Parts: sequence; structure tokens; C-alpha cells
Amino acid sequence: MTNIKTVFVTGGAGYIGSHCVLSLLEAGYNVVAIDNFVNSVEQQESAASLDRVSRITGKKIIFYKCDLLDIQQLDDIFNKHQFDCVIHFAAMKSVGESIKQPLMYYKNNIVGAMNLLDVMAAHECYQLVFSSSCTVYGNPIFLPITEDHPIGNVTNVYGRTKYFIEEILKDSVNSDPKWNVISLRYFNPVGAHSSGLIGEDPTKNFSNLMPYIALVALGKKPTLSIFGGDYETPDGTGIRDYIHVMDLAEGHVAALKKLQSKQSHLEVFNLGSGQGTSVLEFVQTFENVTGVKVPYIIEARREGDIGSMYANCDLARTKLGWTAKYTLDDICRDFWRWQSLNPNGYKGNSITSTNGDTCH
Ligand code: UFG
Repeated sequence: MTNIKTVFVTGGAGYIGSHCVLSLLEAGYNVVAIDNFVNSVEQQESAASLDRVSRITGKKIIFYKCDLLDIQQLDDIFNKHQFDCVIHFAAMKSVGESIKQPLMYYKNNIVGAMNLLDVMAAHECYQLVFSSSCTVYGNPIFLPITEDHPIGNVTNVYGRTKYFIEEILKDSVNSDPKWNVISLRYFNPVGAHSSGLIGEDPTKNFSNLMPYIALVALGKKPTLSIFGGDYETPDGTGIRDYIHVMDLAEGHVAALKKLQSKQSHLEVFNLGSGQGTSVLEFVQTFENVTGVKVPYIIEARREGDIGSMYANCDLARTKLGWTAKYTLDDICRDFWRWQSLNPNGYKGNSITSTNGDTCH
């Protein structure tokens, strides 16, 4: 039994990271977070998202602007704090960009992860939750996807970095049984915290469905382009497994409890809703929940897209005691609240927190 009190969160200021930090604080953990703001359009010094998490929870977060490629700074942070566990979110995540700039993705994602593992081992911290993705499954051979579905047949560089890191983790665990690792394969995270204070920053670069729906709903884009109406799905549009980001965050708390209860060595779990939703169903639900029309046109398929992808989450239910609770209605309602209250994201709304200081 390993008691986890203080958690080090990489990529803590990002979309999924900030929601997870919130859940960790509410579950009673202390959090030290880092971020290099690589997924931000503008260079930042402070973590506005984490300032808001502190505001929501009334709890402190220690934050450092730190890049995982700066192994010296990482080591300094580990010298200053005693970490019982690490949750590793930090990564570059654009599929299209990863194909154009593979070396940048391999360096940031893979070298970053290796630096983290090195520093963790040097400081005798062997408990890790890794942020993986359903992208490691590639084009599904069967549905719904279980964790024993073959992996590695990925279609882009971003996905390959997630797959390679899973392999690195497997080899590390095999080489040293002190490692205690859980890899969480996310399906499609969407939505926002119900406070409307944190969510996915709409001013950042994106290519995902939900931010595009928002652009149209806010009148900033005339129509939504639906990529492909000729898939082998009931309405012809692509099917995905959309999971509320707070369900995803709670999945990490469940993973920490699992790490605490028993040596996992290496375990892998799908985190999804277990439900397949088509693009058209998503748009219709959004319109019903918000009362806002989203005009669309069906266009050609997007290159590299697959028709259907959704998870079997029985393993997470039985072994982590976790299951997704939020509905698609909840996702649309919470997302729209965040979007309506923060059409410019966190811009101009930061309560300044400086390096190594607490967010408050
Ligand atoms: N879609 C549209 N119009 C848009 C954007 C998306 O019709 O403007 C459709 C896509 O074709 C797809 C669905 O909406 O059918 C979801 O697309 P997203 O881009 O939101 O998500 P993906 O499933 O394509 O990608 C996600 C993550 C990736 C990850 C991948 C793994 O965003 O990081 O799952 O399969 F690699």
C-alpha cells in the first residue's frame, strides 16, 4: 500500500490537465503542476486555467513554467518537492502538425517522457499515470474496442508518439519492478467543468468537432463542415466516443486509488463513454440543448479519418470502479456555458501567478 499525498502533474494548465487538477484537489491530493504552454497561441508566464481551478476549489496549486526538455529544471523541481505520483499529460497533440513536423513531435513527446522517467527514477518516484489515446489502436479491427485490441498500427506521428511511449513504459516496468504505471487511453474528450470557469481554450489552434460547432453557434463561421456523409454508419457520418472531460478527470483519480491499493506494474484502461455518437447526432443534441442552430454542409471525408471508433470500458468499471456518468446533453450544456461565458478563452482574465508560486 503506497499512500499518495502529493501529485506532480505535467501539462497541468492544459484542457484535460486543468480539469484533472481540479478533481485531484477535490479528492484531497496536493498538486504541483508544470506546463510549457506549447499548446497556447501566445507565450504565457502564468496559468490562468489553474488560477481558476484554485478559485473553484479554494485550494492552492504550486505551478512552474517548465519544459520537460529542460531536465535540469525538472530535477530542481523534484529536489524542492517530494512527489508520490506523477500524472503525465504534457504533449504536443495536433495530428496534422505531427505529420508535417515529425521530429518536433518525437523530441517533445518522446524525449520529454524519457526525461521525466529519468528524473522520477533518480528521485525514487515510481508511480505514474500516463495520458495515452485511443489513437494507438489505429483503424479498428473490431468494435467496441477493448484494451486487448492490437495497437501500433497508427495513422499519424502524434499517435505513434503515444504508442512508442506505451512501449517505453512497458520496457521500463519489465526492467524494474519498482515501476507502478497505469496508461489511460482516452477516446474523444469534450465538454467543460459545470462552473463555466474552465474549458478548452477556443482561441487555441484546433481541428476537433466541438470547437468548430462553437464557431458556427457563435456566428463566427457560417456553416459546419461535416467531413464525410458516406461512412458505413446509420446516417453516413463518422461515429466517435465522446467523453465529458470531468468524467475523464475522475478516471485519473480512480487510477491513483488503484495505484495506491496495489502494485499495478503496468495496466492499461480505456476511458470513454462506451457510446458511439455520429457527427449528425452530436449536432442535433447540441441544437436541442442550447436552442442554437448549427447549419452544416456535408463535405468530402477528411484525410486519415476513420468511420467508427468507440470503447468498451468494462475493464475500467470492474478494476477501477469508474464509469462515465455525464450524458451528451450534459456535455453540450457545460461546453456551451463555458463558450458563452469565455468567447475569448482565458485571454485577459488571468489572475497572475508567478513561477513556483501558488495559484490563488
Ligand atoms: N468532424 C467534422 N467536422 C469538423 C471536425 C470534425 O465533421 O470540423 C468529424 C470528424 O470527421 C470525426 C468527428 O467529427 O468524424 C470527430 O473528429 P475530431 O477531430 O473531433 O476527433 P478525432 O476522432 O478525429 O480525433 C481524436 C483526437 C485526436 C486523436 C484521435 C484518435 O482529436 O487527437 O481522436 O482517433 F488522435
